[in-house]
Amino acid sequence: MAVPDKITQEVSELRAQIETHNRLYHSLDSPEIPDADYDALVARLELLEDQYDLLIPSSPTQRIGAEALSQFTQLTHAMPMLSLDKVSNEKDLADFELRLQKRLGDDGELEYSCEPKVDGVAVSLLYRGGVLQRGATRGDGVTGEDITHNVKTIPSIPLQLEVEVAPALIEIRGEIFLGKRGFARLNRRAEKEGSKIFVNPRNTAAGALRQLDPRHTARVPLQMYCYGVGVFEGHALPDQLSEIFELLASWGLPVNPDIGTRVGIEACLTYCRELLARRNSLAYEIDGAVIKINDLAIQRRLGSNARTPRWAMAFKFPAEEKTTRVLDVEFQVGRTGTITPVARLEPVFVGGVTVSNTTLHNMDEIERLGLSIGDTVIVRRAGDVIPKIVKVVRSRSRKNRKKIRLPEACPACGSAIEKDGEVLYKCSAGIICPAQRKESIKHFASRTAMDIDGLGDKLVEQLADAGMIENVADIFALGRDALGTEQLASLERMGNKSAENLIAAIDKSKQTTLPRFLFALGIREVGAATAQQLAMHYGDMAQIIAADAQSLERVPDIGPIVAGHIRTFFENQENLALIKSLQDHGVRWPEIEVDANFQDRPLQGKTYVLTGTLQQMPRDEAKRRLLALGAKVAGSVSKNTDCVVAGPGAGSKLVKAEALAIKVIDEGEFLALLDALSQ
Ligand code: IVH
Repeated sequence: MAVPDKITQEVSELRAQIETHNRLYHSLDSPEIPDADYDALVARLELLEDQYDLLIPSSPTQRIGAEALSQFTQLTHAMPMLSLDKVSNEKDLADFELRLQKRLGDDGELEYSCEPKVDGVAVSLLYRGGVLQRGATRGDGVTGEDITHNVKTIPSIPLQLEVEVAPALIEIRGEIFLGKRGFARLNRRAEKEGSKIFVNPRNTAAGALRQLDPRHTARVPLQMYCYGVGVFEGHALPDQLSEIFELLASWGLPVNPDIGTRVGIEACLTYCRELLARRNSLAYEIDGAVIKINDLAIQRRLGSNARTPRWAMAFKFPAEEKTTRVLDVEFQVGRTGTITPVARLEPVFVGGVTVSNTTLHNMDEIERLGLSIGDTVIVRRAGDVIPKIVKVVRSRSRKNRKKIRLPEACPACGSAIEKDGEVLYKCSAGIICPAQRKESIKHFASRTAMDIDGLGDKLVEQLADAGMIENVADIFALGRDALGTEQLASLERMGNKSAENLIAAIDKSKQTTLPRFLFALGIREVGAATAQQLAMHYGDMAQIIAADAQSLERVPDIGPIVAGHIRTFFENQENLALIKSLQDHGVRWPEIEVDANFQDRPLQGKTYVLTGTLQQMPRDEAKRRLLALGAKVAGSVSKNTDCVVAGPGAGSKLVKAEALAIKVIDEGEFLALLDALSQ
């Protein structure tokens, strides 16, 4: 049947539109069109493909068109999907090579394919004549489940291989996983919609693949990396694993770019160390590295045991999730009086550190987890993120659990507790509460505030408990009385030398900057960036103290709430006396020159977003320069963004900027702009 040009064109436009929306859906927090409109586009395309016989295997209808299943079908793998032997220290990995050399009767160095051990779900994809025919889970290695309808929804899995002459049959094996960014995005969406929070990327990926309805799977931005070939019929494959990876990649299959070949086990160890060091900055979660013999003929000579091949070894990294028990829950009072529940845990080694307590944030979090004292819980510490209880293990939680209750009075001073916003509670006493005092002193001395070297949290506790400091100004009187440094030196873990060093560090901190000083005061919701804005806008302390709410609201980033907090702080006579006392002790900062035409700065009113890595200027510096030119620097792209500065590695922000047709410049253009505007 001759297909009218108009129809061919509509079909190709529909395909392009659907692909774009698929991409937008996965890279943005809020998709551009409602689900119903999207469904209508798909339905129209399905209709035309059917009516005019225009269906092709790579059409987007083939990804999301499938009906929901009523149950999964079991299937048997033509070749069993093996598992891996594992080691968790360097010596055992070195022994692996010795065993191989012994078995091969040759002590020459071997070549290995070194691969990240991606933490996801193992799958098998069957391509017949280059067309994706079946996807299956590993299951127990012998039998798995048919998940074809779900793997087809994964954008990076080709429905058709990009190859002239496709092999008659090839089984691709690999790991389906959810990247860190995708996971975070999904949880942001869940939080917004008030639905259940996902525990970790692995479980989320496994859950998504276990959906009967592929539309549910399609909502999770799953990815795949291929790491091997199973059954194979047709033209010959290369004889090195690394070359097979190149071939698969050339066919459009996703291969992990962090895979590499190494000669000798020493080089493999270096690969493992480097991979571990990069673990936090990888875009996906790993639980180790996999070291495989690269030469397939040698692989065949070595063969397999019942469950694992002899030619491969997993090097396990420290787990990022462990179970432990909640021994107690205490309530801590923060700098601004917020009362935070903190769980005391049976110490557990997780994500490379021993964790013995973790914040529970607020009472709602406790409710959401369904947590009681005595419960067994999963603690997660991935990367530098603070450790977190992600789940209660119901089956292992005891009978004599104790309910967690908000205390009736402030645990530090006994004053009344009041509600603060939707989920928080706070001590009503203000700065007379000893806990709030201690916290404000810790904040004042901290690195990003006055940066008093050696005056850490523990020492502040000691000094406050010994009655040597009651407020931040007292810091500057330490060691100045008749006793000299004697009293300081007599503190536990102190001594003369440390006492002298501390006094010197306190002296040094007196020469500070206005933004640091403002931040150090601990005004509610005035972080380092807002302090910087205030300092640049007014230039001196007296003006900030005198500024009314209306004037404060003209400072970029300050709205009525923060302006209110600032006013409340400076209307308090005790705070003013404290500032004076600090200045009397010699705390000083250089004047800041304020642009007389503040409102006329070249980027006044413009909003910039920085994304990716800047190579020639630290991000802080870039931000500072933009602020100085009057721009606002936002953390996310929206329709109010004027310009995105994108360095290498830019991801979803760049995609969103492009989708919203916002101006994007690279680092070179950015530097040129700064130069031009700073003249
Ligand atoms: S090879 C015969 N390579 O680890 C070799 N596995 O503990 C079979 N995995 O079930 C696996 N990344 O789910 C291999 N680069 C990689 C891998 C990898 C992750 C998983 C896979 C497997 C499990 C074995």
